[in-house]
Amino acid sequence: MRTGREQFGGRGAAILAMAGSAIGLGNIWRFPYMVGQTGGAAFIVIYLVSCLLLSMPIFLAEAIIGHRTHASTFGAMEKLAPGTKWKWLGLLTVLSPLVILSYYSVVGGWSIGYLWQSVTVGFHNGEIGTVSSAYGKFIASPWRPLLCHTLFLGACAGIVSAGVKSGIERFNKITMPLLFLLIVLIMTYSISLPGSRAGVDYLVKPDFSKITPSAVAAAMGQSFFSLSLGVGTILTYASYIKKQENILVTGMGTIGFDLLFAMIAGFAIMPAVFAAGIEPGAGPGLIFETLPYIFAKMGAGVPVISAIVAVLFFLTIVFAAVTSAISMYEVGVAYLVEQRGLSRRRATLLVFAGTWTLGALCSLSFGPLSEVKLFGLTIFSFCDMLTSNFLMTFGGLLFVLFVGWKMDKAAVRDEFTHGGTARFNCAVFDAFWFLLRYVAPVAIVIIFITNFVG
Ligand code: PHE
Repeated sequence: MRTGREQFGGRGAAILAMAGSAIGLGNIWRFPYMVGQTGGAAFIVIYLVSCLLLSMPIFLAEAIIGHRTHASTFGAMEKLAPGTKWKWLGLLTVLSPLVILSYYSVVGGWSIGYLWQSVTVGFHNGEIGTVSSAYGKFIASPWRPLLCHTLFLGACAGIVSAGVKSGIERFNKITMPLLFLLIVLIMTYSISLPGSRAGVDYLVKPDFSKITPSAVAAAMGQSFFSLSLGVGTILTYASYIKKQENILVTGMGTIGFDLLFAMIAGFAIMPAVFAAGIEPGAGPGLIFETLPYIFAKMGAGVPVISAIVAVLFFLTIVFAAVTSAISMYEVGVAYLVEQRGLSRRRATLLVFAGTWTLGALCSLSFGPLSEVKLFGLTIFSFCDMLTSNFLMTFGGLLFVLFVGWKMDKAAVRDEFTHGGTARFNCAVFDAFWFLLRYVAPVAIVIIFITNFVG
């Protein structure tokens, strides 16, 4: 086992890194379109409840394992349950974030492509038909998205190979405050557009008749994705948090920032969508098809402003995606360095080679490989479905079962209550223990079944 393992500088750095992992395409791309498809404000209410009652205990379960062992996912299982089958959980959570990273990098690459376009030619010929066919053509044309995927993954590799402190921590420290600033600017612009009021109402006036079991499962699944749960990223980042830090504070800080960002992103996108008279339930293409059209339409009056907003918007997406992608990347690198004895540089290259290849197949599945189907899905959709619907929930279930039923309760209490010194943590431990042992596993099984049946 290596000595001299790297650590985050302090509480602020740890929260920014965790928030960097959590805040990503899930907040800017997935959250608004899911709100749009699943009933506006009512979805947000269930989302908030599921973050507190379900995601919080899972987040803390992962963080407790990482913080207790100061090891990568596989190493952590070997330390806490040596010689048992739990090592497969360690291995699963090395592989699942790398599958997510592969297709995530493709979407991250699209945002680089759109950023490039907004800087160079802009979105001037903005009939909705033209914009969405441009989107369709772009993702299907084999070379440009492949190049963008390579650039995106290459940037992540550069940051991760620089190390936990000089790479990951430093990048998050610079980009996270900038991200908040950018999204607040975009929100202000969006709310100021004529006709945006209906979009604001959509987000604040719940219609509870829209709540169906599948909407509840979707909200829970979204809170999983958005908080990066069940795939070892939280575990790995928590393993870099100093012993003297209180993980409940780190956890609440991260969840708070993630929620705040998702809400601001909702208010940045929906009012603009309504102002342009577009259907909020446009689905996954919402930001790539609809927003360029909105920029074009709004740009008819003041082109400079619309061009600036477009650049800022795609810059925000690229930054948010990179801060999340590096957390997935780090899980694989930590495993290869700590368990396989590779140098960080080699480990980074190896992860690059594997995820680039799978990512390239995902990217090509919008064009030349569109006929290749796995269980009736394209390679991209298969990887997305496999990870978001199954591997994340399955990993999350195993983590809560491990901490709630396998790990020594005294050790869990010790981590949670900060060695018995944090009074607030001591007061809420029993509630946490109950959520962890009973509520979270049952809720996860329900999401799992709903996803399976649906
Ligand atoms: N939480 C990230 C987002 O919202 C996605 C992610 C999933 C990151 C799993 C790490 C691990 O975009």
